[in-house]
Amino acid sequence: MEATWQQLCARLGTKYPIMQDGMGPSPTTSLATAVSAAGGLGSVSTPGLLTPEAELRKKLRDRMEQVAVNGAGSFAVNVPVGTLESGEMLPASEACIDEAIRVKLAGGPTSDHFRAITTSAGFPGAFTERIKEAGLLHIHKAGSVRHAVKAAEAGVDVVIASGYEMGGHTHLNPVSTMVLAAQAVKELDVPVIVSGGIHDGYGLAAMLAMGAAGVAMGTRFIATEEHEWHHNYKQFIVDAGEWQDMTYPGYYAPSRGLKNKALLEDLPAKKASGVSIDELNQWKEDRGYDAQMEGDVENGIVVAGQVSAAIHDIVPVAVLLERMMDEAIGLLEVTAASLPALKAARA
Ligand SMILES: Cc1cc2nc3c(=O)[nH]c(=O)nc-3n(C[C@H](O)[C@H](O)[C@H](O)COP(=O)(O)O)c2cc1C
Repeated sequence: MEATWQQLCARLGTKYPIMQDGMGPSPTTSLATAVSAAGGLGSVSTPGLLTPEAELRKKLRDRMEQVAVNGAGSFAVNVPVGTLESGEMLPASEACIDEAIRVKLAGGPTSDHFRAITTSAGFPGAFTERIKEAGLLHIHKAGSVRHAVKAAEAGVDVVIASGYEMGGHTHLNPVSTMVLAAQAVKELDVPVIVSGGIHDGYGLAAMLAMGAAGVAMGTRFIATEEHEWHHNYKQFIVDAGEWQDMTYPGYYAPSRGLKNKALLEDLPAKKASGVSIDELNQWKEDRGYDAQMEGDVENGIVVAGQVSAAIHDIVPVAVLLERMMDEAIGLLEVTAASLPALKAARA
């Protein structure tokens, strides 16, 4: 019988059970291209949660086309479907999902390589039917067993179980990856991809042994040669030590980044100055760009996960994927070889 990861790879058209998850709003287009070319699932990120709609749609289409043409493997589009503090759904969510579905239905090479929409940060039920009818897999990211079950009951095809240590917008109620992963695999009838804190073949082997269908990573993929963000950002992750991560208020939930002047001094000062929520959100988005695209890692916000402390190099994507596969296969072989002894220990 095929393992869950084999079945999911077949449905997604990937070689390896490794996914690069969305990291908007700065582009992850070159990164997704490299991941898709190397046999993983690349993700095109939402171009902006605050960008005007026509520009948003165009940027998304362009990014999808670039990944399809240059990567020639499978890719997904990531769309956060969170609500603002006012309770409204992010207007960008509806526009991005609609545009991505149009691209799929239009047919042609971009459509062929485009295999899934990943929603995150909110309840995805309003979009499931349209996504599936368009011939795409609906993957949804959840940070608790209860949200994962709710998403599966709403009809999503695959759940990403993402632990609280993840980079970027994390969850209001913390559940760490180690607590979440096995429970999600046991509770759900749909395949589970695990994310949050994974960076190597040890994590991959553990999750496959647990019955997961694969792993997804964000922070580890930032520190790769093909990723289009500034070298300083990648190096800041490589140089980060234990306890350097912290959470701060994001747009719709806590977000995790690395301690620096922007998070420790500038953000509290900005909040205390009494600016409106919209101005504050724009300030955070701009400071993210400053760090990601301009390389200002002191005045810009460095969004990244706790796993930064375990990342020690900037490597080509294909090297990372092959290294992860080598490590996972090696570990699983050693584990399999020790099975007779494990069984004998019970006798
Ligand atoms: C810089 C950055 C930006 C992110 N932006 C998004 C986003 O736009 N949408 C989303 O669903 N998740 C976003 N995330 C979360 C990632 O998709 C992924 O779930 C997370 O990075 C996994 O945890 P890890 O960082 O420990 O690998 C972001 C993460 C990072 C580090």
